[in-house]
Amino acid sequence: MFNDFRLAAGRPVYIQVRDYLKGLILKGALQSEQKLPSTRELGELLGVSRNSVISAYTLLEEEGFIYAQAGRGSYVASDASLPGPAADAEPWRMDWKERMSRQARQAVELDHMKRGLRAEKGTISFTSIAPDEQLFDLENVKRAFLDRMAMEGRVLLNYGYAKGYKPLMDYLLNYMESKGVDLQGKDILITNGFTEGLDIVLSALHRESGGAVICENPTHYTAIKNLKLHGFEITGIPMDPDGIDLERLEEALAERAYDCAYLVPSYHNPTGIVTSAEKRLALLQLFSRYRIPVIEDGFNEELRYSGSHVAPLIAMAGTGNSVVYLGSFSKVLFPGIRVGWVLADRALIDSLESVKRARSIHTSTLDQSLLFQYLQNGNLEKYLKKARMEYKRKYEWTKACCERYIPFSRLSGSGGLHLFIEFPEDFDTWKLLEACSEQGVIFTPGDMFYTDGRGRNTMRIGFSRVSDEDIGTGIRLIGETAAKMMGN
Ligand SMILES: Cc1ncc(COP(=O)(O)O)c(C=O)c1O
Repeated sequence: MFNDFRLAAGRPVYIQVRDYLKGLILKGALQSEQKLPSTRELGELLGVSRNSVISAYTLLEEEGFIYAQAGRGSYVASDASLPGPAADAEPWRMDWKERMSRQARQAVELDHMKRGLRAEKGTISFTSIAPDEQLFDLENVKRAFLDRMAMEGRVLLNYGYAKGYKPLMDYLLNYMESKGVDLQGKDILITNGFTEGLDIVLSALHRESGGAVICENPTHYTAIKNLKLHGFEITGIPMDPDGIDLERLEEALAERAYDCAYLVPSYHNPTGIVTSAEKRLALLQLFSRYRIPVIEDGFNEELRYSGSHVAPLIAMAGTGNSVVYLGSFSKVLFPGIRVGWVLADRALIDSLESVKRARSIHTSTLDQSLLFQYLQNGNLEKYLKKARMEYKRKYEWTKACCERYIPFSRLSGSGGLHLFIEFPEDFDTWKLLEACSEQGVIFTPGDMFYTDGRGRNTMRIGFSRVSDEDIGTGIRLIGETAAKMMGN
């Protein structure tokens, strides 16, 4: 016994000795009332100091696994090992797959991350639209954390409020007001990113029309997934270069009733299209005529590289209360801080607050306060200046490479972290992906973003985490492979 103990680096030795002995007791290798070696002996056997064994024994005694008898040594407590199964009973192994709900099965089915292409080392991958972590200003993040912890660390580590951390809520209200939003009658709820905000809003909406949503086609895959998991029937409307096709939208609205619309007006994922100001106004008029609330996804608004500022729908709606704005800093700052927000009518937020409390109590106050202090210290403006400059450069380089090498029929994207490419109708980007991945380059085929199974001739190119050199090499390879497949 005791010859299979292995020390791992980085953990206190006495804790490792405690865990090792606990394991032996639980398994029954050390039995009830068995005398343990003396601390000196065990220290020698395990190759650790006697003090480490003394500390481990003290912990085990506090936890009730062993007891000490003065002058005689330490003993395993009675009944400390796990009771084994009754002699005649087979341990019951159930089939959890069979016990999964319809929603869980559907979630697995829709979980592309589990089945996506794995980028082998050295692969040039255009699949990600996450920010480039090399840009993160770690020192400012650390300072924000330490500042806030010094100010109110104890409060931050206790329970917080479902609606959110007040200083951050106030900051974001101000931030939204500076985007032109009329805050009268509106309120805010902090969520775990955009994704939880959408989930909460969808779960709170009454479904007069049986759960029907209208959105751009293609659209954000996570939104499609969540809409489906909530049982919504999705109608996708094709996009023009300046946003959703208004005529087709109106035809669809005249045909049947919808419970809500989901729109990504700025640097839409996956097309990168910015809906024009005129179209935004027309959309608001149309949806108010058909009395349909709009869920506005404002995730990327800050990543504008050209063109003039376009106000979010919720700002254009003025004192109207039909737009539910979902905000996120996942692309603009750090997706690891899971903080997003819902800005909407006060009555709606009041209900969402209760849904949020029931589901997760509140978003991590540590995350919220760190973000608040980072913003409060004036870092967003500095960071955005740097990030925008870098992404703009990469965006222009990627676009130039695509224009030079890829035989596309349409290229879109005027900001954000990706471009979207459409090939002629009969082209298959899954086949292109297969051929490219054999040569060490991967991207995201576009069909997953479509609500109706179309889009096999499309692809999304995420450039944020790819080096300039790899962008050049990768896009050239994609372009040459596509041209070959087209017989050029
Ligand atoms: C359209 C869209 N909305 C929102 C988000 C951000 O989601 P979250 O805040 O949950 O990270 C993304 C991220 O890719 C996105 O593409």
